[in-house]
Amino acid sequence: MKQFLNKTALVTGASGGIGAEFARGLAKAGCHLVLTARREERLRALKKDLERTWGVQVDIVQSDLSTLEGVSHLINSLDQKNHAIDILINNAGFGYEGDFVLQNDDRLNEMIGLNITALTFLTKHFGRVMAEKQSGHILLTSSVGGFTPCPRMAVYDATKAYVLILGEALNHELKKHHVTVTTLCPGATRTGFFTASGQTLNALVKMTLMNPEKVARDGLKALAKGKSLVVPGLLNQLTVWGLRLLPRAFMAPVAGTVMN
Ligand SMILES: NC(=O)c1ccc[n+]([C@@H]2O[C@H](COP(=O)([O-])OP(=O)(O)OC[C@H]3O[C@@H](n4cnc5c(N)ncnc54)[C@H](OP(=O)(O)O)[C@@H]3O)[C@@H](O)[C@H]2O)c1
Repeated sequence: MKQFLNKTALVTGASGGIGAEFARGLAKAGCHLVLTARREERLRALKKDLERTWGVQVDIVQSDLSTLEGVSHLINSLDQKNHAIDILINNAGFGYEGDFVLQNDDRLNEMIGLNITALTFLTKHFGRVMAEKQSGHILLTSSVGGFTPCPRMAVYDATKAYVLILGEALNHELKKHHVTVTTLCPGATRTGFFTASGQTLNALVKMTLMNPEKVARDGLKALAKGKSLVVPGLLNQLTVWGLRLLPRAFMAPVAGTVMN
């Protein structure tokens, strides 16, 4: 990942899980960082660790990206500090499990705001700057769930299907500007995701959880190569392959059974 040396990357959702591992992987490659999330203490601790270990410059911006005000705050903070972003890691996101008709409106709105709206406008803002420079790399975190409708995760999976469709289209559209867009589709990974989404995992799923460090590493390797799509882990790759073969009418019932 030599091309990341002395570049600057913005990582959203860097306070834990896959985002913190993206930050570690990029710092190891000699890339300077801007880290953002809501939990500032965690960002500060990571900044200290990465600066000391890898000698890169790390800035942090605390922001709630579930609102447009939060997105503007992040963009304005970076503009004021004259940060030129070469790599955008659009990773922040959360899930929300439950019966659709009973789900909390505010929480659903926050999830759509973070997983779709913030990701779209950050990609548009930094994508335009990169297109003008005729260089840049963008990574969007979708999910294996983005390949299938899933009862009780209906809105979350729909947000991730949006990310997948957007990412694949943009990778093609921005090619003429020498900007790559890589969509990462992790399966179940050992992070704070399940606590945030209100899911309890059975022993079998716990055994298949991927390590967030490996997920981020696969994402960064694909990003470095400008790949359009990456699904980390053999089990997840087989799942996606199986879903592609499954007639559409069976997808939701099968996914619902697996969820149960
Ligand atoms: N873990 C999995 O099984 C899995 C599978 C497929 C896809 N994914 C996707 O992977 C990405 C990373 O999730 P993760 O697994 O690493 O989960 P995680 O450990 O819960 O991390 C989520 C990150 O998003 C940030 N975030 C949440 N709400 C935010 C908000 N309103 N504003 C700004 N930042 C916010 C969190 O930071 P703060 O709380 O500090 O704000 C945290 O840094 C997500 O897009 C998720 O959908 C995860």
